[in-house]
Amino acid sequence: MQLKRWLVAGAVVIMAAAVAGAAPATASHPVDPAQQSLRTLGLRHNLYLGTAVDLAALNDSADPQYRATVAKEFSSVTAENAMKWAELEPTRGTYNWGPADELVAFAKRNNQKLRGHVLVWHNQLPAWLTDGVNDGSISTDELRDLLRKHITTVVKRYQGKIWQWDVVNEAVSDPWDNPPTLHYKGFWAQHLGPGYIADAFRWARAADPKALLFYNDYNIEAFGSGDPANDKTQFVYDMVRQLRRDGVPVDGVGSQGHLGTQYGNYSTLQVAAALKKFAGLGVATAFTEVDVRSQLTEGVQAGDSNEINPRLQASAANYSALLQACLADRHCLSYTVWGFTDKHSWVPGWFSDPPEGMATIMDENYQPKRAYFELKADLIYSGPPYVLPRIPQRPRR
Ligand code: XIL
Repeated sequence: MQLKRWLVAGAVVIMAAAVAGAAPATASHPVDPAQQSLRTLGLRHNLYLGTAVDLAALNDSADPQYRATVAKEFSSVTAENAMKWAELEPTRGTYNWGPADELVAFAKRNNQKLRGHVLVWHNQLPAWLTDGVNDGSISTDELRDLLRKHITTVVKRYQGKIWQWDVVNEAVSDPWDNPPTLHYKGFWAQHLGPGYIADAFRWARAADPKALLFYNDYNIEAFGSGDPANDKTQFVYDMVRQLRRDGVPVDGVGSQGHLGTQYGNYSTLQVAAALKKFAGLGVATAFTEVDVRSQLTEGVQAGDSNEINPRLQASAANYSALLQACLADRHCLSYTVWGFTDKHSWVPGWFSDPPEGMATIMDENYQPKRAYFELKADLIYSGPPYVLPRIPQRPRR
């Protein structure tokens, strides 16, 4: 009887470990959590650890480690570019689904969730669309119609396959923009007015009743003055509150998390407070594009450890602050890094004056940095009562 009970208990432990994707622990071979992947460690919290995926790198047969690492370490993937409008419809009326479909198939094979990125953004729009609007051959009515068709087509194609969609990206200005009073910025606001935001969410919901629909932006990790004229987080908060009051199906707020070690950045407690405040609106949250870049000074480029070490440490501290804050809120569903190796990171290409880099959790040779180990430690050494598993978000009708 005693033996049978132990056997049953043992089977349950082994099954639970198998479900979590971990090797079962036995008395002689205890699991060393430090050896487990980010994805496995995240599952204990029902938290999905994701990465942006560069499809060219994923398909590069000379670089098998890229593909292997995406599969091994992450439980969620986002197309870094392949689902943007310019990539999907480079020629009017002709969709190029290939790369996006490949990522969807890859995620399925590797039992990964998908974040869809991005339906409405002012960047990486096809030239035929922006040129047509600029030369007057596409009218405002036609533009609105094209946006509705685009959202409907893309969301329907991947219906049931996308967990979270970034429906609208970066709609709000920054205090350094002109005018400095925060406002709705960019191509869509200019041509359609801010009403395009509610429209986009409604069109996305009509095309997929089950996907979680996110508003996504940067510099909204923490609240500032509380004045929506200059506090971007407050502006976004007020916007989402109003959209929800109007019955618009916004299910989540994505905080991109593009940080830099030169800025000092936020404390864990500040970020946790911001996530909690958003959760109070009834929406889920997620970190969607985390990376922490540094200036590549002459010393850094020359390999001076006096300059490199503080940057690695500050980068790790920032990665950790966002993850701890996410762990602390049961509505923070996923934590996605915007690339995981410096071999494939958008930072050096985008921030070149002064040159910046070192933004990801592994170096150019896929060697994990301090940030990678800190993320693991955060996942390992956190639990009740302050860290509890995530509560799934229900899509709003
Ligand atoms: C970036 C990609 O990483 C680059 O490869 C591309 O050239 C430009 O866009 N915020 C976003 C992402 O929402 O889509 C951006 O991705 C980074 C900033």
